[in-house]
Amino acid sequence: MLTEFTNSNLEVLYSAEEINARVAELGAQITRDYAGKDLVMVGVLKGSVIFLADLIRAIDLPLTIDFMAVSSYKDGTVSTGDVEILKDLTNPIRGKDVIICEDIIDTGLTLFRLTEILSSRGANSLKIATLLDKPEPRIKKELQFDYCGFQIPNKFVVGYGLDAAGRYRNLPFIGVVVNPDIA
Ligand code: IMP
Ligand code: MG
Repeated sequence: MLTEFTNSNLEVLYSAEEINARVAELGAQITRDYAGKDLVMVGVLKGSVIFLADLIRAIDLPLTIDFMAVSSYKDGTVSTGDVEILKDLTNPIRGKDVIICEDIIDTGLTLFRLTEILSSRGANSLKIATLLDKPEPRIKKELQFDYCGFQIPNKFVVGYGLDAAGRYRNLPFIGVVVNPDIA
């Protein structure tokens, strides 16, 4: 039962119950805001998949989903600032009401570039839902986002979709990696 994850190198920041309650609130808020609209939820692979899967089930409206994959971190924990599209959307977003769904905003560079790219495609509206926001990294791009699960300290976190070198995404909680060198 995931006991190998609850090792001394992880501290629980948000439990599964706390995450579920917050995601339900965000879903209710989006349900109110998007009634009558043509909603597309765009997941940014891979980190957002767990959040997206739970969030769309908390939205009581017709919607579609699509995915993009971008690379900005290259497996490390430091942002390079460069964003490369590895997988683009399957369907056009012209005339749609798009919410980009992300796991975490750190420097904001990834989403800043992604919104630049998507806003040139004629969507009716474009908003951002992020599970986590780190308000205090060293560099921070000014970025408007509309839905945010939790603001967290400037620490490296894993779980509920977030990874360290590809691992820990399947943790049901969000944890802080105490020593990233041995994550
Ligand atoms: P940004 O471009 O600096 O905002 O970085 C956003 C991306 O960096 C996220 O989608 C994550 O993939 C990754 N990232 C940033 N901080 C963390 C963290 O604490 N844990 C896991 N991934 C992170
Ligand atoms: Mg990511």
